[in-house]
Amino acid sequence: MTAKRKDDHVRLAVAQHHTSQTAQHAPAQRAGAFDDISFMHHALAGIDRGQVSLRTSFAGWTWPVPLYINAMTGGSPNTGEINRDLAIAARETGLPIATGSMSPFLKDPTCADTFAPVRAQHPDGFVMANINANATPEQARRAIGLLDANALQIHLNTVQEIVMPEGDRSFGHWPAAIEAIATAVEVPVIVKEVGFGLSGRTVAQLAGLGVAAADVAGRGGTDFARIENGRRPRADYAYLEGWGLSTPAALLDAQDKGLPLLASGGVRHPLDVARALALGAHAAGASGPFLATLVNDGLATLIDQLTSWIDQLTALMTLLGAHSPADLAGADLHITGALREFCDQRGILLPQPKENSR
Ligand code: FNR
Repeated sequence: MTAKRKDDHVRLAVAQHHTSQTAQHAPAQRAGAFDDISFMHHALAGIDRGQVSLRTSFAGWTWPVPLYINAMTGGSPNTGEINRDLAIAARETGLPIATGSMSPFLKDPTCADTFAPVRAQHPDGFVMANINANATPEQARRAIGLLDANALQIHLNTVQEIVMPEGDRSFGHWPAAIEAIATAVEVPVIVKEVGFGLSGRTVAQLAGLGVAAADVAGRGGTDFARIENGRRPRADYAYLEGWGLSTPAALLDAQDKGLPLLASGGVRHPLDVARALALGAHAAGASGPFLATLVNDGLATLIDQLTSWIDQLTALMTLLGAHSPADLAGADLHITGALREFCDQRGILLPQPKENSR
């Protein structure tokens, strides 16, 4: 049952994303909130490419690049192979990587071999284990232990659970459970959404629970309401598709709420990575787009894609005059459309360019 669900998630997520070998207009490629953010062009802002460093530091960690492969899968033979290949791609390009939810392993230890390849293939990499907020501290330790993980992601997925007939219906204990896990485990905890966004209020709450960082994982890319509706003949909750906060809106709402932020959800290309960094994220992650490349076009193409994202991000920083990812925060931005309306309605101050900013 769980194995079938994991395979369904992969199949339906891939259908939401465009790759070079699929249709041009998969929904996740449509104009999104990231398109409401433009960098002001200053023709003399450029620096030398050799002056750009992609290293990013937050929550006591330094990552070689501000880009990561976010949580997806594990729990069936097929998804075990996907985890292995994602980890090889991460190793070849130096990216941090998260596994999908390790609930299948916590319920059935024989699933270990569908998650363990992530560490085996990326022995020196930054690896994140992933659990839900129902896990006990002891289970959290087991998940971390299997991967010798550098960090633990806890995912919040109320919308997904509600759309699933077999999903959870009790969420009130989550804040206390997150605090208990964060206190008990030996690695820092990152709390993430699964594509519906973390609001500023949520991030402020998490800051009080001992969490080290928040991954806003907003709307705009993989839509889990659509995935769960797609798994059954009658899409009872079709109206929840498109629910939530876009990733840029979440980043703006959650700025200065006491936690370092990571950006994922609807990141389509290196310009979106630069936009997320300009809104204050320390790194940007993607799931569906990388999965679609792997499944449709193979491992070598995924490695090429990640290499080219890193190369193009460096190029964009060169033209924007940003020496480092942190330097992009405070870039001279122009914010328009629905994102600007969102900021106006919520009284969010638009990011101001740093003095002498690009
Ligand atoms: C996910 N995501 C996810 N997140 C999580 O915390 N635990 C999980 O087990 C999963 N499972 C999962 C399966 C598949 C097939 C996909 C595509 C995604 C959510 C993921 O980490 C991310 O938050 C969202 O997919 C939004 O990012 P993208 O896909 O728009 O880049």
